[in-house]
Amino acid sequence: MLTLHPTKEQGATSKANEVMYVDPTATTTDEEISSQIVIEGLNSGFVADLLSGMLTHERCGTHLYRSVAGRSNNPLLKQKYEHFGEETARHVEILEQLISESGGNPNYVSPTARVVEGMNSKLLESTFMVNGAIDLMNQEMAMLDAVFLAESMDHANWSTLSKLTEKLPEGALRQRFTAAVDEVEAQEDEHLDWAKKTKLRIIAMQAESSLATTIGLKTEEVVAHIRGWLSS
Ligand SMILES: [Fe+2]
Ligand SMILES: [Fe+2]
Repeated sequence: MLTLHPTKEQGATSKANEVMYVDPTATTTDEEISSQIVIEGLNSGFVADLLSGMLTHERCGTHLYRSVAGRSNNPLLKQKYEHFGEETARHVEILEQLISESGGNPNYVSPTARVVEGMNSKLLESTFMVNGAIDLMNQEMAMLDAVFLAESMDHANWSTLSKLTEKLPEGALRQRFTAAVDEVEAQEDEHLDWAKKTKLRIIAMQAESSLATTIGLKTEEVVAHIRGWLSS
């Protein structure tokens, strides 16, 4: 089952240290983590931490896409956000399955994962500005920028996983990693490529448009303008 917010009740665990409190019943250790996913020739504990970070980024991606799809005033952007959001939810599922079938706990939250969650929270938060502090056109661009930044990381994560897979010894573990990479990598190419090209297209349109500034325009006029983006 898809988990978007790992909680203690769902078996979430984390490593405690002098500045990080973890409920003793949910505490795990480097030794325990390293013994779960055993990879000959690689540092298993490091790989487990990395996978937890990647999974967290995909989980945060589902929240980002839900938020921007719900707020965009452009039907084509909205449609893409919904579609990529569905694919991102599938990436969560694939990584959860990969981790659990490899012997790990998909709800283990590594130190990397906590950093990733912090970065993603700020990214999403930055698309919300106090009403009036940012106009709708800039908000639309901020949402697209957040998608572009999130997808840059997402793309890099799956390229990393692909490279790591080449280092795995032949066997069931390598087959599982290969199947995951094969299903996701082309979608990540599409996500990043689309975000990059769409950003360029809208910026070029804005730069050439007399409506690039919304000063003096009524909200309905700005919304109508945004709705027309990418339609030709
Ligand atoms: Fe993804
Ligand atoms: Fe993606």
